[in-house]
Amino acid sequence: MKWRLYSEDVLPLWVAEMDAELAPTVREALQSAIVRGDTGYPFAEDYASALSDFAARRWDWPDLRVAHTALVPDVMMGITEVLRLITEPGDAVVVTPPVYPPFYAFPTSAGRRIVEAPLGGDARLDLQTLQTAFEQAMRTSQQAVLLLSNPHNPTGAVHTREELQAVVALAAAHRVRIISDEIHGPLVLPGARFTPLLSITGDAFVVTSASKAWNLAGLKAGLIIAGEECVSDLRRLPEEVRHGASHLGVIAQVAALTDTSGWLDDLLVALASNRTLLNDLVAQYLPEVNYTPAEGTYLAWLDCGGKDPARYFLERARVALNAGQTFGTGGAGHVRLNYATSPQILTEAIQRLAAVSQ
Ligand SMILES: Cc1ncc(COP(=O)(O)O)c(C=O)c1O
Repeated sequence: MKWRLYSEDVLPLWVAEMDAELAPTVREALQSAIVRGDTGYPFAEDYASALSDFAARRWDWPDLRVAHTALVPDVMMGITEVLRLITEPGDAVVVTPPVYPPFYAFPTSAGRRIVEAPLGGDARLDLQTLQTAFEQAMRTSQQAVLLLSNPHNPTGAVHTREELQAVVALAAAHRVRIISDEIHGPLVLPGARFTPLLSITGDAFVVTSASKAWNLAGLKAGLIIAGEECVSDLRRLPEEVRHGASHLGVIAQVAALTDTSGWLDDLLVALASNRTLLNDLVAQYLPEVNYTPAEGTYLAWLDCGGKDPARYFLERARVALNAGQTFGTGGAGHVRLNYATSPQILTEAIQRLAAVSQ
């Protein structure tokens, strides 16, 4: 989608796809499946146990139980299905904008209502605002839910253990349930640490996949993980929900999560280097733009000012970025830039933006 939506003269640094070669382990697993004719229905257990081993190795979180997971086509469908399981139409879903635009669209189309709890002035989760939002949400809902992006898209903030503990305590005090989208969990750059929400509480759902870190969005396979106290809810998940995932997607996920070649570490080093390059380029060419490099994701959240900078940059500079205003309150005047591309493309993109920014 990234390279197809706009005409050829546009440099696309928008949707969260990476310009990276597929990890050889993943490519070989897919090729071998095709050669074997292994193109039937998916088998989820291998995927869940690969994620469980990955979580133990990578995040020191050894408690992911295969029996407490469910296969879904992708993360957003998984989130939507958990919402259908634990809330009723009209119930509130609290989101923390600026945040990934489908956090608005998917719950809304499932008949749920969005309540915003914007990030604080430091661009991190704000307990006071969350408290107000929880009170409002619970006044008007049978069951309200907090939908977290952990790490946070678009700012790249990696929530700390202490921040998550405080949010969990606050949600419990208000009887708000939590769904944590951890698709960016493996994309925490060197020096920072990702905290799986379920390593803090058993009273939450996680929805995740390897699809951001290994660029597998087209292959369709995600997982819902129920915390210890949510397993009985997960058992009510309708059987048909599990049918949308792809067998090749599961094969790719397993290959990615069990890879021991160091591909992910090399990727993270390259992303960290691009993050530094971007910071330098912005300082040099776009001094009026405000950018704070973040610890996670390959997304940069740039405060450019003006009414619709993404549109301006697309029309004048032929660079496609995501428009900040689609990320909810606090998004206006911003663009989201995907720096998972080559240093050459990143440099050219910023130079193009600079040329129309005088
Ligand atoms: C926070 C977040 N959640 C979900 C998704 C989409 O995941 P999926 O394609 O598995 O629905 C993205 C994609 O960029 C994302 O950034």
